[in-house]
Amino acid sequence: MVQNESNFTCPWWLLFTFDNPMRKLIHNPNRILRPYVNAGNKVMDIGCGMGYFSLELARLVGPNGKVIAADLQPEMLAGLEKRSNKAGLQSVIQPHLCTPKMIGVTEPLDMIFAFWMVHEVSDRTAFMQELYSLLKPDGILFIVEPIIHVTRKNFETTLDLGCEIGFSEISHPQVAISRSVIFLK
Ligand SMILES: C[S@@+](CC[C@H](N)C(=O)[O-])C[C@H]1O[C@@H](n2cnc3c(N)ncnc32)[C@H](O)[C@@H]1O
Repeated sequence: MVQNESNFTCPWWLLFTFDNPMRKLIHNPNRILRPYVNAGNKVMDIGCGMGYFSLELARLVGPNGKVIAADLQPEMLAGLEKRSNKAGLQSVIQPHLCTPKMIGVTEPLDMIFAFWMVHEVSDRTAFMQELYSLLKPDGILFIVEPIIHVTRKNFETTLDLGCEIGFSEISHPQVAISRSVIFLK
């Protein structure tokens, strides 16, 4: 079993240090997500925080698609709802409260996006197995981890785990100050 050694969950107030209007200069959500999302897709932004990427996912899937924006912290989902209402995207984005042990979503997904959150999950093995089970055949899991908190060795553990579970490691898109992987089910 792969476990998170630090037991750290990014508190909602800390998100304001990096999730601000300047963030687009480093992490442009459209550039990062566009190659992996199609109109009409059902996707999940797991560990969505206040929805920085959920909004762009909603624009990309369009009115016939769906974005499940899932997080452990109600404060994060409250921030997400404010943002999605303001952007007029509330009909596409469905907020979902997880527990630390289970995501608890049931519908099959085309793509799952996990940005800077996998290192916070306490039981990485169970978590990634649940992600695998939620994806449709040929579904994509896109993981991005921060180089500040996740060493190359730690990230390689995630890569090995994904392959053990049954994913194929497809590519490693360039994302600033991050390590990333595209897994295919
Ligand atoms: C560093 S923040 C990143 C937020 C967002 N992805 C972004 O880039 O703006 C990590 C988020 O993952 C959430 N998180 C941590 N463990 C989780 C779990 N097991 N299930 C769902 N969300 C989790 C935290 O509550 C936090 O909102």
